[in-house]
Amino acid sequence: MSMNDGLRLIDPLAYSEKGYPHEEWTQLRRDAPVHYFEPPGWPAYWAITKHADIIEVSKQPDVFLNGPGMTITRSEGETEEERATREQIKTIINMDPPEHRKYRAVATPFFTPRAIGQVEPLVNETARKLVDGLGREGECDFITEIASIHPLKVIARLLGVPEADEPFILKLTNELFGAEDPEFQRSPDRMEGIRKLFMDFWGYFGEIIADRRARPTDDLASLFANAKIDGEPMGELETLGYFLIAFTAGHETTRGSIGGGMHALIENPDQLRWWKENPELTPVAIDEIVRYVTPVNHMMRTAARDYTLNGQTIREGQHLVLFYASANRDEEVFPDGEVLRLDRKPNPHLGFGIGEHFCLGAHLARKTSGTIFRELTSRLEFVELAGRPLRTASNLVPGLKHLPIRYRLTEGA
Ligand code: HEM
Repeated sequence: MSMNDGLRLIDPLAYSEKGYPHEEWTQLRRDAPVHYFEPPGWPAYWAITKHADIIEVSKQPDVFLNGPGMTITRSEGETEEERATREQIKTIINMDPPEHRKYRAVATPFFTPRAIGQVEPLVNETARKLVDGLGREGECDFITEIASIHPLKVIARLLGVPEADEPFILKLTNELFGAEDPEFQRSPDRMEGIRKLFMDFWGYFGEIIADRRARPTDDLASLFANAKIDGEPMGELETLGYFLIAFTAGHETTRGSIGGGMHALIENPDQLRWWKENPELTPVAIDEIVRYVTPVNHMMRTAARDYTLNGQTIREGQHLVLFYASANRDEEVFPDGEVLRLDRKPNPHLGFGIGEHFCLGAHLARKTSGTIFRELTSRLEFVELAGRPLRTASNLVPGLKHLPIRYRLTEGA
């Protein structure tokens, strides 16, 4: 790696072509754990690669802000209008204290372990039906037929979206997250595509919001549509932001853990055997999958003031990119971090972030991924790759978009 441009760590195409840059991160953790890069065509940024440094940053949300931007995006060629389109919708992930806490509190009750426990039958049913639908043996694209569909169905059911609209939602979320990936771009003009995408999103969920205001039910859409902040109805952009984040943050990421997890199990058959023999340890195994795969690769912060981190002076206004995937292999915390060890405990990984913005959907993600793996591992007699796995071109959620497999299952219970 050229240590002076840092492009490999943030270039979406490099992720699809070569995967996560673990070699470069290992070198940075050893030689320059807080390192300033000035990549051509991108904003300059500090690469934060150590577990302890990411925690120090994440736990000071007044000093390291999400408001100015939550991810690193290309600065080249973006007009004011294009940036305004991208930043139109406000989500809690873009907010800072004290505003952030008020808005996060709207959804917290729906995502507690207890509340998520209540949706277990729904999640189990979706998992069983999907695996049954595969048939006893054959070949499939595990991403498009299982990893992508299961989380989408779960979140769509929780939100109260009609089943018939699921394919439309799937296309929308693929396009939102894969904005850099040619397979998911709807128009050769990147920004034109993004603008149309937001209008579709707006049109579709705007109608659902109006409906739930008129006829509230107990679904998540009704909770968002009728939420109050300081006793006043939540603003339109913030309401829409909640729909956006439930679908995007909830779907593509869980797809990443299920898809990446299956790939890891194919590469580590001893771990697949272990899982079959220890189904009750699924919650432990899922956290190891999230650590090993790290579906959300990075989040960005912007310094509100000068700050010295691990010996380096970060100046007010400078960006910090927190590479969770690097922290999750930090040799000081995980001496054998490159190894998939499903019984790893304790497992203080940062796959769900930490601090103020800790993943709101972590329990749901664990439940959704856990049920499909439990269903699969109990029934898989045989599985192998049937083609080359392909990754999405993204520096944020660079998960697999295709994973061709050949399999044989036992009869369902
Ligand atoms: C394996 C799956 C998932 C992974 C790896 C993941 C990862 C993350 C990470 C790393 C953050 C922290 C962002 C930061 O610190 O700036 C985050 C935040 C968030 N996640 Fe997840 N997530 C997953 C699934 C979900 C699901 C299923 C939902 C909801 C349906 C969800 C909703 C959110 C929300 C709302 C936030 C923002 C929280 C805030 O700003 O207070 N996530 N997630």
